[in-house]
Amino acid sequence: MFAVKSNPHPAAVQWLHDAGVRDFDTASPGEMELVRGRFPGARCYYMHAVKGRSAIARARREFGIRHFVVDHPAELEKLGDVLGSTDIVVMVRLATPGEGVKFDLSAKFGASAEGAAVLLDAAAARRYATGLCFHVGSQCIAPQAFRHAFDEVRKTLTACSAKIECLDVGGGFPVHYADTDPPPLENFIDTIESEFASLGLERCELMCEPGRALVAEGMSVLTRVELRKDRRIYLNDGIYGSLHGMVIGVRFPLRLVRPGAGPLPHDTEFLAYGPTCDGLDELPQRLLLPGDVREGDWIEFGCMGAYTLSLRTTFNGFYPNDFVTIDTPFRDLVSQQAPLAATSAK
Ligand SMILES: Cc1ncc(COP(=O)(O)O)c(C=O)c1O
Repeated sequence: MFAVKSNPHPAAVQWLHDAGVRDFDTASPGEMELVRGRFPGARCYYMHAVKGRSAIARARREFGIRHFVVDHPAELEKLGDVLGSTDIVVMVRLATPGEGVKFDLSAKFGASAEGAAVLLDAAAARRYATGLCFHVGSQCIAPQAFRHAFDEVRKTLTACSAKIECLDVGGGFPVHYADTDPPPLENFIDTIESEFASLGLERCELMCEPGRALVAEGMSVLTRVELRKDRRIYLNDGIYGSLHGMVIGVRFPLRLVRPGAGPLPHDTEFLAYGPTCDGLDELPQRLLLPGDVREGDWIEFGCMGAYTLSLRTTFNGFYPNDFVTIDTPFRDLVSQQAPLAATSAK
């Protein structure tokens, strides 16, 4: 599955579909509408553990959803009330230790192994098919986080009598931001495959629902320098636009773009502001740029494809919304032009 929340832009979902993705993790009827409106034959999965009753009914009736996540008895009760006895798969979400992750999800979602076992048996007693799922947390740089999540799966399956027909290992696969050099993806996949094999489950489908790792490198954001005041620069994009990810601690790689200029050393730190009239619209990380940065220069932030577009606002009438397709990946442009310029701590 592709986790639509990470980049719902029509171009992103279209490219993934062109590449063969037919299954989509959708967290709301709005996301289901987006997917089905474009790809009537695609399969959507309702992978949100907390759903409104009308949303559950609509997901089933309008979009034919079969997979629904629960992490609490009250949510299972709700599914039973709304859907009665029908052919669905109840996916029980397990909490995980949240190891090596930038964004933990298990404080908000997930049942303990004991709780999950009770939920699986309760779902089976209602004659629903069952599955298990977890999400180790987003931007996870530790393959062993998946091994420890499988320990929880093992505990759960030992404690219940229900037989699961699918196991979904979530997303969380990492991206190379300016301050992270995660292990290769194969290390994660190898861990997952060997742990799954060791469970010895019969007729159980292995699933995953990545977002970030599929789309992050697919988009850059270009911002223009509108004004320089000594070591402070004012940009035409900021925390209420495309750069919200910085507020939650992501360090995007960047490079200066000055048409016609050759490679320039990125050796000076600047405080940067976004375009709105709000005093809070200040980038929380200083930007390492050529010392002569000036009005009319552009700054390209790379690796911006995940969780950027949905978080833009129209505050103050600014809305970054011009898209162009380019052929050369950001990382190649950087290596042709200058050493990778990282943002530095404030
Ligand atoms: C339920 C669920 N599935 C998948 C994802 C995608 O995770 P990632 O972007 O870390 O791969 C998220 C992210 O928050 C999520 O909450």
